[in-house]
Amino acid sequence: MPDTAMPIPALPTGLLDALLGVLGPRGVVTDARDLEPHLSDWRGLYRGASPAMLRPASTEELSMAMAILHAAGVPVVPQGGNTSMVGGAMPDESGRQVIVSLTRMNRIRDLDPVDMTMVAEAGVVLKTAQDAAAAAGCLFPLSLGAEGTATVGGVLSTNAGGNTTVRYGNARDLMLGLEAVMPDGGVIHGLRRLRKDNTGYALRHLLVGAEGTLGFVTAAVLRLFPRPRAEAIALCAVADEDAALSLFRRFRDRDEGAVRAFEYMSGTGIDFALKHIEGATLPLSERADHYVLVDLASSRPDADLRGLMEAVLEEALEAGEVLDAALAESEAQRHAIWRLREEHPEAQKREGASVKNDVSVPVSKVPELIRRSNAALKALIPGSRPVPFGHMGDGNIHMNLEQPEGMEAGAFLARSHDIMDCVNAIVRELDGSFSAEHGVGRLKPDMLAEWRGGAELETMRRIKAALDPKGLMNPGKVLPA
Ligand code: MLT
Ligand code: ZN
Repeated sequence: MPDTAMPIPALPTGLLDALLGVLGPRGVVTDARDLEPHLSDWRGLYRGASPAMLRPASTEELSMAMAILHAAGVPVVPQGGNTSMVGGAMPDESGRQVIVSLTRMNRIRDLDPVDMTMVAEAGVVLKTAQDAAAAAGCLFPLSLGAEGTATVGGVLSTNAGGNTTVRYGNARDLMLGLEAVMPDGGVIHGLRRLRKDNTGYALRHLLVGAEGTLGFVTAAVLRLFPRPRAEAIALCAVADEDAALSLFRRFRDRDEGAVRAFEYMSGTGIDFALKHIEGATLPLSERADHYVLVDLASSRPDADLRGLMEAVLEEALEAGEVLDAALAESEAQRHAIWRLREEHPEAQKREGASVKNDVSVPVSKVPELIRRSNAALKALIPGSRPVPFGHMGDGNIHMNLEQPEGMEAGAFLARSHDIMDCVNAIVRELDGSFSAEHGVGRLKPDMLAEWRGGAELETMRRIKAALDPKGLMNPGKVLPA
């Protein structure tokens, strides 16, 4: 926490005037009240300080502003919808880092239903991009809890995953071309809508997932898909973690292309959602310890997904894997089932302090990950409540831990690193990753050294030094000091 009594050094007058000259008064925010919402993160993990937030209205404006800041040696922190789970968009406490928000760059420049592409600027909110695709009879499939706030620039910079990775891949897989502003203001004009383009190093893929440490994503060519014309969604109570995996395999083996999402939830997580989320109800007659949400979709209007759902669930019921299931009969029921899943983070927050472990393992190892982590976490902190949930179909489980009832939140959070280490030790044995979809941000750079040491980390450092020799882009994020 910064010392709030400490004054934040203002930008030198000459620098401020130069920035106002290229961005205009709407493009430079220095009022403390306007800056306030941009200085803390969604999880409440960090509180930063900053002398200003820049809001360029175009790629050209950002390029000119970066040239000025680069010459003056001013560090910058890109901030999209500020929904990072790892403090990736937070300035540090020094008060020296300038926030740069591209939310004024929110145009959809082009949408082509023949090429199946959309050219969206960084500040377009993810939900707006989804809606624009739908209005044109298409689908932009990236889908995650923060989609009403997260921006295209943010989800690409962090290579966000979310609920539909099992079918459509991560943000990286949904991007064909990129426009970017580099730390010195240079502009990469790469908005090519090509499916094949082997022309040297794939710079677009270097910027995607770099979490704003190499440059700014200012616009992208996004891939679109045919819109779904048939859907079937069910909430199932399953016998255990192995039964959940077995059910996934039954659907995948029968019709891989139909599985849009396959999400695991624990009894504890559903209990929290029912307790804290207004209007949430369980569409099954009895509580269970394990649940999965099965979401099937097809662009074929005649795809009999309800038939597929019923046939597979029947088999699984006979095999004792599925204990009970509710099929959504209406849009309202589909929404209600998804809400139980999507409100997991909010419900956990309302229940008390929790520590997130955004980890991934090979899909075959998910049951072992959940079982072993549950046991290890309960032994580490007696009374603590593991809440594993998430994207079972792609191997990314949020192995989160809720504080014991009655424990002081601060005392629990002081154990955050022990908790993460405890899960990570298991993840390592299962050949997984300590950072699946939320990124490394400010929370996990020290872990990066441990997990990606040797030539891998050295190569990352060389790339950073080559592209950002002054170390001005999102300092303190991703790479260990
Ligand atoms: C989600 O899938 O809901 C988030 O990525 C998980 C989390 O909040 O830990
Ligand atoms: Zn997730």
